[in-house]
Amino acid sequence: KELDIELAAIEKGNFEHYMLKEIFEQPTTIFDCMRGRLMANKGLVKVGGIREYVDQLANAKRIIIIACGTSLHAGMVAKYLFEEVCRVTVEVEYASEFRYRNPVIRDGDVVIAISQSGETADTLVAIEKAKEMGAIILGICNVVGSSIPRTSHAGAYTHAGAEIGVASTKAFTAQLTVLYLIALQIAKEKGTMENERFRRILNELDSIPKKVQKILDNSYIAQSLASLYLDAKSMIYLGRGYNFPIALEGALKMKEISYIHAEGYPAAEMKHGPIALIDDEMPVMFIATKDATYEKIVSNIQEVKARKGKVIAIVTEGDDAVKNLADHVIEIPEVDEILTPLLSVIPLQLFAYYTGVLRGCNVDQPRNLAKSVTVE
Ligand code: G6P
Repeated sequence: KELDIELAAIEKGNFEHYMLKEIFEQPTTIFDCMRGRLMANKGLVKVGGIREYVDQLANAKRIIIIACGTSLHAGMVAKYLFEEVCRVTVEVEYASEFRYRNPVIRDGDVVIAISQSGETADTLVAIEKAKEMGAIILGICNVVGSSIPRTSHAGAYTHAGAEIGVASTKAFTAQLTVLYLIALQIAKEKGTMENERFRRILNELDSIPKKVQKILDNSYIAQSLASLYLDAKSMIYLGRGYNFPIALEGALKMKEISYIHAEGYPAAEMKHGPIALIDDEMPVMFIATKDATYEKIVSNIQEVKARKGKVIAIVTEGDDAVKNLADHVIEIPEVDEILTPLLSVIPLQLFAYYTGVLRGCNVDQPRNLAKSVTVE
């Protein structure tokens, strides 16, 4: 027992918690995940694990993504991604809902199951069901040799290393990385992406670890914001497009780690409900990076300011317009819109972590939560 405690402490290195260590590992884990798969200078991307199923993926009529929790949010980003670059219909399903429905599986449907642990009971049963109905199952998992990869026809590991913190961080960005690699490989195979854009995205993906490092180097910003808002009763997280699932993920991290009620929403839906909650005590976290819906998000920020809400915005480096509107901004490096989630989620992880720590919460092992949910 004592030895276990000592070992755990050593593994944590200089970090106070596993969660913080795992957040800071992300430049390395994303890099490791791309190793041998992405050769940006040659314009090549190949995920070995799906080798035998490239044709099925390229010809899929529909991709159904099944997952729970944070892994589901990675799946939601993948919906935007696969639809845009591979021109294929994608549905994202809570595993727990899928398994108790009578879902329609047609010939040519490919199911992608995403799970850090590879043991989540709902996800496992859902893919067994889809498999019985004739779907091809690909698993994206972190734990090698776990149940989901063993049940799947094929798949890819995320290679993020052991994740100890109950709230998933580095496994999430590794899941996203694998999904980007697969989507790009399939887009190339199908010819659905213009060559120049394809090459550019490959190069941008290659430089993601550096950009993540740059955000981590400024972690004190998220830390100081945490000290300003640690007494909030509730928070709203808003984003659009690729950043809508990141708003959900940011809110999930906040509630898991700090026990502050937090809700993620597509920013434009704010007017259909959450806007009623806004007053001068409500912090609203906007993901307002320079992308296709930037102007729309700016007007959403104005709507919140008009109701005296406190606005924190994640913005693209050098964006002064939002800086003038928001109460606080956190800058992230410029990147192609489709890759933003890999960057925009980092300050949200840090913000949740520091808020939890300042509130005296057990951030590595939040109450009532389990790392791997093997019961339904
Ligand atoms: C639990 C964990 C979450 C995780 C979810 C799905 O709720 O606390 O961090 O996202 O399970 O787990 P999986 O292992 O399938 O990704």
